[in-house]
Amino acid sequence: MPNRVIAVDGPAASGKSTVARKLAAQLNYRYVDSGALYRVIAWKTLENSRDTAQPAEVLETLRTMRVEFFEAEGAVRYRVDGYEPRAEIRTERVSGAVSSVAAIPEVRAAVTQWLRDMVRFGNLVMEGRDIGTVVFPGADQKFYLDASPEERARRRHAELKPTGEAADVGRVMSSLQTRDQKDSGRSTAPLCIAADAQVVDTTGLTIDQVVAVIAQRAGG
Ligand code: DC
Repeated sequence: MPNRVIAVDGPAASGKSTVARKLAAQLNYRYVDSGALYRVIAWKTLENSRDTAQPAEVLETLRTMRVEFFEAEGAVRYRVDGYEPRAEIRTERVSGAVSSVAAIPEVRAAVTQWLRDMVRFGNLVMEGRDIGTVVFPGADQKFYLDASPEERARRRHAELKPTGEAADVGRVMSSLQTRDQKDSGRSTAPLCIAADAQVVDTTGLTIDQVVAVIAQRAGG
């Protein structure tokens, strides 16, 4: 039987990362954070002192970086040129650069292929923006998580606090909105809801409540 894929899509700070990670652990599936791959390309471009707003410079980075995938702690993870970046890809600098990187069609094609190849690791819970629409249109289950802009800003603000990068909630909200607009407005694979996705509004729900709703619908 081919490996199963559960797609968890939604905008930034909709709660999908934590939910997808917990769901994967509960079902004993591998967790995949697809956004991390776009972040890694943005981070590596900046590391190389290249301009992430110039597609040619991003694509040169993509051509010269060596990416390997491995499984650890229930997730599919990766090394770039032998190094696994973690906190480095979550900075506001990378967050500010990643939307233009993710809008480049050749970048999307490369990441989409990496993601499709991950089925070799087993059953997957994959979170992102276009998993149910583009990467795995035939996914066994598709969920689209959303939350109000205020709730999403509060969550992202809380996430940024430990990194010492927390701006005020209003600024976090406007940076999220800018990113949403870029992600929804790009011509290749814009953020949209798959026709057959189940939409879950997570506003006012705890992570565990959302996981319970999805696990039940996913048959776990
Ligand atoms: O989920 P995140 O914030 O880590 O995503 C980082 C960026 O990558 C964000 O600008 C949206 C983009 N992305 C995408 O275009 N497609 C995906 N499947 C996942 C993320």
